[in-house]
This record gives sequence, C-alpha cells and structure tokens, in this order.
Amino acid sequence: MSRKSEKPFWDPDELKAQLQTAVLGKRLIVFNRITSTNDFLKRLARRGAEAGTLVLADQQTAGRGRLGRQWQSPPNVGLWLSFLVRPELPLELIGALPLTIAVVVAESLSAICGEIFSVKWPNDILWRQRKICGILCEAQIAPMENSPQQNYIVTGIGINVNQQTNDFSPEWRTRAVSLAMLAERPFDRQKVFVELVQRLDENLFENLREYIPLLLSRWRSFCPELGKRIRLHYLRENVTGVFEDIGAAGELILRMSDGQRRIFSAGEVSIAK
Ligand code: BTN
Repeated sequence: MSRKSEKPFWDPDELKAQLQTAVLGKRLIVFNRITSTNDFLKRLARRGAEAGTLVLADQQTAGRGRLGRQWQSPPNVGLWLSFLVRPELPLELIGALPLTIAVVVAESLSAICGEIFSVKWPNDILWRQRKICGILCEAQIAPMENSPQQNYIVTGIGINVNQQTNDFSPEWRTRAVSLAMLAERPFDRQKVFVELVQRLDENLFENLREYIPLLLSRWRSFCPELGKRIRLHYLRENVTGVFEDIGAAGELILRMSDGQRRIFSAGEVSIAK
C-alpha cells in the first residue's frame, strides 16, 4: 500500500475520469510501490473482488515473470499493472486467454507508437526480437458446476515505457527494449495506460467466447516463428520441431522430425539453429 505520507504517483480519480470503459478499471487501485500487483490482486480475487478490478503500480519490489523468473519493475519508467477476469468460459478455452491478451496489447502498442510488434508464444511481445512487454496470467479455475464465482484469472502486464539501455540489468540490455528506445522519445505513461485499458476492456469483457477464435487468428499473424523450426525448452527438456500451429486453447503444436505431433501448454520458444 502506498505510504500515507507519499502522494500517489498518479491520481486514481484523474485516471478513472479518462477511462471510458464498461468493466475494466471501475475499481482502480494505484500504488507508488508494492511487492507485486499480481500477488495483491490475487488476494483481492480470493476475497471476492469484482471482475475488472485493476491494480497499477509505479514500482514493484518483487515483480514476477513467467516460469518463476523475476521481473524488473523500477519506478518512473514502466507500466506494471494487473487486472481481474472472472471468465464464464469452458475450461478448454481458458488457456487461450493469455494469447488473446497478448494480441490486444500488441495492437495497443502499435496504435501508441506506430511500430509493428510480434508475439512469441505464448504471450511475450517483442520489437525486432527484443522484449518490450511480458504477461503473466495466474488462474484459479474450478469446473463450472463448482462455485464458478470463485474462479479468477489475474493477468499481470509489464510494459517497458521509458527505460534507456542502461536502466536494464546487464543480462537484459541486448534483449529488452522500451517504447522510448524504439521511438527515440519519451512517452506519457498515463496515455499509454489509458489506450491499453480501453482496448482490453473492449476486447475481453463482452462476447469473449465468440471473440477468442478471432483473436487467435490475429495472434497467428503476429507470430513469426509459426511454420518454422523451433526449439522449445520445457521442464529441463529441449525439444526441436516445426511450430505447426496453436490449438483452440492456445497450446503449441509441434511437428517432430518423425512426423509425430506433440502438444505443449508451457515452455520457452527459441528459433532452432
Ligand atoms: C514475463 O514475461 O515473464 C511476464 C512478466 C509479467 C510482469 C508483470 S508486471 C505486473 C504484474 N505483476 C507481477 O509481479 N508481474 C506482472
């Protein structure tokens, strides 16, 4: 929670006044500093918070990424936010949600800076092979017949907005990029936030079930690795094959050299040498 003596870095009321959303951000919580917006929102979700609740922080002290990694979230330069979805979707479609969110974020970033972004399965967003945004979806899903009101998906989005190369840790300097670096000008984080939230609201809260196949086909058009030979690192195993397609639940379908197909729901993709 932001300390009482500190003014919030953004005024939540001012931000809310700029949002014309139906669901997302109706409840908006802003922190100067927090451990992780995902961790905070998961606690709220378990206590019954409403779908669309949105948490934004200027800095995270324990930001988390996929596959147990850390996510660097320094103050003044990024957008670190999480939002709550309580999807009334069949289980087999819930896996597609992280990919659909990546499409919406990639399209928002293009609208903001005029550049084209790509996605790396399942939901990294890259500019010329450098990561600009990471997405972490964490879900508690019970079968529809067992108290679906307790279901939640907390989606955390981290966008590098105004960092310069030296703001990234040495291991990330050649692999990460910010909007400011690619456009060679700083961005107003408030404007980036409003554009993003507006688009997420339009795409994810109504008719999602009908939208998912459409969003998945848009995802395919953003993914340069599709149809190529890739290496998938999964559970200490490296598997090589042709990235044939994604399934209806966003799974990665790999065609092995012996012609067999293998289907993965997690892992890290790289281009095979
Ligand atoms: C990844 O690429 O590994 C996912 C990174 C997700 C980072 C965001 S920042 C806001 C939210 N809170 C977290 O602790 N993580 C996500």
